[in-house]
Amino acid sequence: ELRIAVLASGRGSNLQAILDAIAHGTLPARVVGVFSDRPAAAALERARAAGVPAWAASPREHPTRIAFDRALFDAVDAARPDLVVCAGYMRLLGEAVVTPRAGRLINIHPSLLPAFKGLHTHRQALAAGVSEHGASVHFVTAELDGGPVIAQARVPVLPGDDEAALAARVLAREHPLLIQTLNWIAAGRVRFHDRTVYVDGAPLTRPLRL
Ligand code: GAR
Repeated sequence: ELRIAVLASGRGSNLQAILDAIAHGTLPARVVGVFSDRPAAAALERARAAGVPAWAASPREHPTRIAFDRALFDAVDAARPDLVVCAGYMRLLGEAVVTPRAGRLINIHPSLLPAFKGLHTHRQALAAGVSEHGASVHFVTAELDGGPVIAQARVPVLPGDDEAALAARVLAREHPLLIQTLNWIAAGRVRFHDRTVYVDGAPLTRPLRL
């Protein structure tokens, strides 16, 4: 049983997908805590409703980024997770907490990385006029949205799409993408070593496709 800590800043639909998959017996894992930089995040309510410990703190009550990250990861570490999942966690994590956790920290990002890092990815995709968009799950490194990608899901960009329509199409694929990736990790099939992702022992040359 994989012990998962989830970091979330908002709505928490990816968290809910994890909780539901565990409840339905399709993910051999346990969410050992949900941690947020936004005390009002709906994700915290979803955690409590599922009987999962929820923790939140405001970055502005800490003097520096490092101080906040330390407080956050003191709480995370106390839950003894095998894996930390950033699921809609909208705050940059500093190198001091990321580097020691290489291979045990993943993020879901709403674009086909390396395209459209950062914020407003759906707006970026529409502005660029791409015909395909999607979501990526990647190992977190100190480089923003730059860590090696494990798996991606693709969706078409359709004529008439606005940001909301495109975001909804991507989100519908994020949930199964995240659950599948977590299942591979729980089964010990995906590892990260020396900046390289290994799947079933072989270096991954391009992201798995879902
Ligand atoms: C998701 O689309 C996730 O990929 C994105 O925020 C949304 C959170 O939704 N994450 C990022 O943009 C990370 N930079 P949720 O709170 O309903 O899971």
